[in-house]
Amino acid sequence: MAKVISNMHLNEKVGLLEVECDRGGRPGQFYMLRAWDTYPLLPRPISIFDCTDHSIRFLYLVVGEGTRRLYQLRAGDNLTLEGPFGNGFPELSGKIALIGGGIGIAPFYYAAKNYENADVFLGFSDQPYLVEEFKQVSSSVTVNVGGTILDTLSFSDYDHVIACGPEGMLKAVQAKQAAEQTTASVYVSLENKMACGVGACLACSTKHTTGRKKTCTDGPVFRAEEVSFV
Ligand SMILES: Cc1cc2nc3c(=O)[nH]c(=O)nc-3n(C[C@H](O)[C@H](O)[C@H](O)COP(=O)(O)OP(=O)(O)OC[C@H]3O[C@@H](n4cnc5c(N)ncnc54)[C@H](O)[C@@H]3O)c2cc1C
Ligand code: FES
Repeated sequence: MAKVISNMHLNEKVGLLEVECDRGGRPGQFYMLRAWDTYPLLPRPISIFDCTDHSIRFLYLVVGEGTRRLYQLRAGDNLTLEGPFGNGFPELSGKIALIGGGIGIAPFYYAAKNYENADVFLGFSDQPYLVEEFKQVSSSVTVNVGGTILDTLSFSDYDHVIACGPEGMLKAVQAKQAAEQTTASVYVSLENKMACGVGACLACSTKHTTGRKKTCTDGPVFRAEEVSFV
């Protein structure tokens, strides 16, 4: 059981939750959060937004009942945290672009703190949030509102590109990688539905060029060209 330190509402659908926890984790990993007793049945996977020796922050979007319950949490409330899970982002050096679309920006704050000189690209469909915070951890933050964040960069200017966002954006990442014929290594972090988070239930299984993979234990971070979006 962990205690909520704060739960800041950034707008009517997005919250930044800080929880007491000393388990840490690497950028790109996630925790399974449960802030209810019986309903919904399952915990929900949320990426590490940031962490210290004593606390973890999670940035989340309200889409259904589980995340709505997260939004209602107040300082002092309890919740269950399991994790950290997943492979996380790879160790990389060279020029790195971190591209987040919508709530897909969540894993890139901690990543930007860890990679030296990574350029951050943030795409929002509506009002942006946390841009000033991102500027504190990266000297290069590009923001796009209502357009396509992928149009603001060329993958070929980078050694490595990592993207997280809605499936349509990740398909566009694959298309851009192919169109530019870039030598940059391109990664995507998948956010599909999960149940156990530890490889036991196959709920998160997705098709890849090398066969089916479990997003929770084989991912959520994969080489972009290996993912078969349907
Ligand atoms: C590894 C990983 C990391 C994630 N990190 C974050 C994060 O940092 N912040 C964050 O806000 N979300 C993150 N997600 C997505 C988050 O887990 C889901 O939004 C959440 O589980 C939805 O639960 P719910 O009970 O609120 O909605 P539900 O009631 O389960 O679903 C409500 C609606 O949203 C749709 N939906 C549910 N889950 C997803 C999903 N994963 N992607 C797209 N649509 C979905 C459903 O089809 C349904 O229409 C992550 C997912 C994964 C797998
Ligand atoms: S969520 Fe159960 S196997 Fe991945």
